[in-house]
Amino acid sequence: MTDLDAAEKLSVDELRARQLERLQWTLRHAYENVPCYTKKFDDAGVRPEDCRSLADLAEFPFTTKADLRDNYPFGMFAVPESEVRRIHASSGTTGQPTVVGYTADDLDTWATVMARSIRAAGGRPGHKVHVAYGYGLFTGGLGAHYGAEKLGCTVIPASGGMTSRQVRIITDFRPEIIMVTPSYLLTLLDEFERQGIDPRTSSLRVGIFGAEPWTEQMRAEIEERAGLDAVDIYGLSEVIGPGVAQECAETKDGLHIWEDHFYPEVIDPVEGNVLDPGEHGELVFTSLTKQAMPIIRYRTRDLTRLLPGTARPAFRRMEKVTGRSDDMIILRGVNVFPTQIEEVVLRIEGLSPHFQLVRTRRERMDHLAVHVEARHDTTAERRVDAAAELVRGVKEAVGVTVEAAVVDPDTLERSMGKMRRVLDRREAGTP
Ligand code: DLL
Repeated sequence: MTDLDAAEKLSVDELRARQLERLQWTLRHAYENVPCYTKKFDDAGVRPEDCRSLADLAEFPFTTKADLRDNYPFGMFAVPESEVRRIHASSGTTGQPTVVGYTADDLDTWATVMARSIRAAGGRPGHKVHVAYGYGLFTGGLGAHYGAEKLGCTVIPASGGMTSRQVRIITDFRPEIIMVTPSYLLTLLDEFERQGIDPRTSSLRVGIFGAEPWTEQMRAEIEERAGLDAVDIYGLSEVIGPGVAQECAETKDGLHIWEDHFYPEVIDPVEGNVLDPGEHGELVFTSLTKQAMPIIRYRTRDLTRLLPGTARPAFRRMEKVTGRSDDMIILRGVNVFPTQIEEVVLRIEGLSPHFQLVRTRRERMDHLAVHVEARHDTTAERRVDAAAELVRGVKEAVGVTVEAAVVDPDTLERSMGKMRRVLDRREAGTP
């Protein structure tokens, strides 16, 4: 581990001491400079100086996406606008986008944690990195870009879209690393095959995939088809962007959280109490160093659990995210996540990883249909059997009855960025 940066070699005690000092600074900085936090702390009857240990953070109020929307566009900033060097925003599915800002130091922090992430994934100075996360207000493209440059890599800023050109660029420029959503990687693999090129013969050795949930079954599918090591990267705009947590290539056992900058808690999503290590719940983050937009106990809605460090011993890991609480479908009382369906789909011979979930309502009952593409070589008989196996598999694994439609290859919507897994076709206003 000789090439790690100093913070990556801290002992747990040193890390906890650094976290507490930074947390106390963050709470003061937020309370003194962001009216939303002043009010929240006052309403909850807490002051920054009440935080004497890391456990005291549990006394402080949560921040939600609604707080960011209510303070649109720049109300959550803790520094004068003239000190903000970059703005990103997430479009959000409904209404107001959420806006985030960075000082020059924040951008440097972001590039540092991204450089760490790429190195943990197996990236080294001199590698070429093909960045197919979207560039723009989305944090994926630019976040990956500056991290790769900081590590000393050569960046190919491809952004998303123009899929056939991406394949050409990968073939000609010969990058070792690709950074892209897992669903768009599948689109790229299909395009390789369409052009008659076996993706396993490409120069790519490492894929750093994130921005949406994906399963171990998907990792196996991608590694097999693309001939590379697939690792997970996690982040969210409100906390900084990609690079909050990264899976290490040597262990592939969940994502190490860069805890010297982002303090994690896992809470019961209903009661709001902090859960014990190893318990499943909603991930909550507090930034420890951010200047432009400190964030206190941000409720991510992402469901996971915290585990002890392995390849980076001082940094706790988060298990692969199973889904967002707001992506969860409640079907006749049972909670269903798209990742659970993905696991079943990928176990069945003849089914491709391209699937969508379609919700409808008939006779006052909600129905869920899994639309999944057959693989190119799947026979008609196999399709019928695969559909039946899918219905059975979902019933066994998830406990709900779904309908299954095995459709022709290349007929479902293709991802260019984050995949829309669930289509809600229940008519508004029906009972
Ligand atoms: O998606 C940042 C990012 C870009 C992460 C590129 C990784 C790679 P947002 O658009 O703000 O930021 O969306 C954040 O995406 O709360 C999760 O629900 C989901 N998400 C991000 N990474 C993962 C992951 C970026 N590895 C939201 N696994 C988060 C599962 C993920 N979900």
